[in-house]
Amino acid sequence: MRLSEKNGQMPLEHYDDCITEASVTGQEADVVTAVELSERGATHTYVQRFNVTYEYPVAFTRDLFTPVNSVFAETLALQEPNRCHKIAVFIDDGLRSSHADLPTRIADYAAARPRAMELVAVPEFVTGGERCKNDPALVERLQRRLIDLGLDRHAFVVAIGGGALLDLVGYVAATVHRGIRHIRVPTTVLAQNDAGVGVKNGVNAFGQKNILGTFAPPFAVLNDAAFLDQLDDRDKRAGMAEAVKVALIRDGAFFAWLERNAVDLRAFRPNAIDYLIRRCAELHMAQIASGGDPFERGSARPLDYGHWSAHKLELLTGHALRHGEAVAIGLALDARYSVLSGHLPEGDDLRVWNLLSTLGLPLFNPMLKAVDSQGHHKLLRGLREFREHLGGELTITLLAALGRGIEVNEMDEGLILRAIDWLANITR
Ligand SMILES: NC(=O)c1ccc[n+]([C@@H]2O[C@H](COP(=O)([O-])OP(=O)(O)OC[C@H]3O[C@@H](n4cnc5c(N)ncnc54)[C@H](O)[C@@H]3O)[C@@H](O)[C@H]2O)c1
Ligand SMILES: [Zn+2]
Repeated sequence: MRLSEKNGQMPLEHYDDCITEASVTGQEADVVTAVELSERGATHTYVQRFNVTYEYPVAFTRDLFTPVNSVFAETLALQEPNRCHKIAVFIDDGLRSSHADLPTRIADYAAARPRAMELVAVPEFVTGGERCKNDPALVERLQRRLIDLGLDRHAFVVAIGGGALLDLVGYVAATVHRGIRHIRVPTTVLAQNDAGVGVKNGVNAFGQKNILGTFAPPFAVLNDAAFLDQLDDRDKRAGMAEAVKVALIRDGAFFAWLERNAVDLRAFRPNAIDYLIRRCAELHMAQIASGGDPFERGSARPLDYGHWSAHKLELLTGHALRHGEAVAIGLALDARYSVLSGHLPEGDDLRVWNLLSTLGLPLFNPMLKAVDSQGHHKLLRGLREFREHLGGELTITLLAALGRGIEVNEMDEGLILRAIDWLANITR
């Protein structure tokens, strides 16, 4: 078929033929066609189309770098089993005191497998926590480090740490050489059940959370339960908020399980924590794989239930609140809003509040009521920023039931303020 048929107008049903012809006859056919079309002043649009399948393991193990644990070595060998893989490792400095020997253990692990892996440098401790996402100089230093270490696109960057460090190192790995393979080893509850298993990374800049970042699925996620042993109680608790979130929007039975096990969870009973992390990770993975929009091209952000206010609160408190703590407040706020806007039965908001409160999460912060010099509520600006982040159309997930999210395209500021008052009164 000639592209010039019908005076350069390509009927849609011929697009597939057109792509096939171009690929068989190569560049020459394209050039002739372009000349013909330009002589006639016509426009023709080729449709480029291809699919890329993503697949990565999310493993749950213990003591990843003990000599007998083969999970890490098997992971490196997944795609090129006969290659000696170069690896660079960055470790959250929050692990420095409790896991001071980790660099040595990783070096020993690699040294015992010289044909399978080469550690290109001694594993390096890097600032962890939200601070590391607020530091452009650190991003640049790590990017330069990967280049100086001579890592190519077949090498691996391994990040061991909390969600913030994983976001930072994932961003660095995704931008050098347009993407070096990245293995995440999450070390907090929140990173193991949420931040580490997804496809996003990023850093904060220009006064906004995660404003710079990429969608870059990891090569693998390796969850090591032993890292949680020394995690602060505060960080263990904060991570549970994301489990409540995903239960609220996706899984009523999981929400009921969380209610039944709240006391055990508050006491950090290992079996309860282990189930919470796995179920939460499964639900996040299912949403990303089957939700129809893994790279968030549409406006809906179902996994961001409670997050429009949480992200703003993190900033307004200068990150005095952990991400999970801000999320807990955001969940309770939007549960109350869901009731006030007629989507959720009265009383269900209280169940959300009760669960979060039993887990020991904070449920109010004075910044919820902060106003600027013109008397405008600072939190409400977060809604505008969220709309801009989505590309103009606001899509907020609220609750239609405890276990079922619902999307709305507007929020009433008066009702938000009433929800804040409710939270202030009940949390007193
Ligand atoms: N990419 C995503 O999809 C996604 C999803 C959710 C959250 N996040 C991001 O994750 C971040 C929050 O992650 P987080 O809750 O893991 O907190 P975090 O990364 O801020 O870590 C909290 C603190 O714990 C320390 N730490 C980490 N592991 C430790 C361990 N095993 N023992 C002792 N201390 C340890 C850290 O150094 C830090 O001081 C936020 O920046 C949030 O935006 C990203
Ligand atoms: Zn979150």
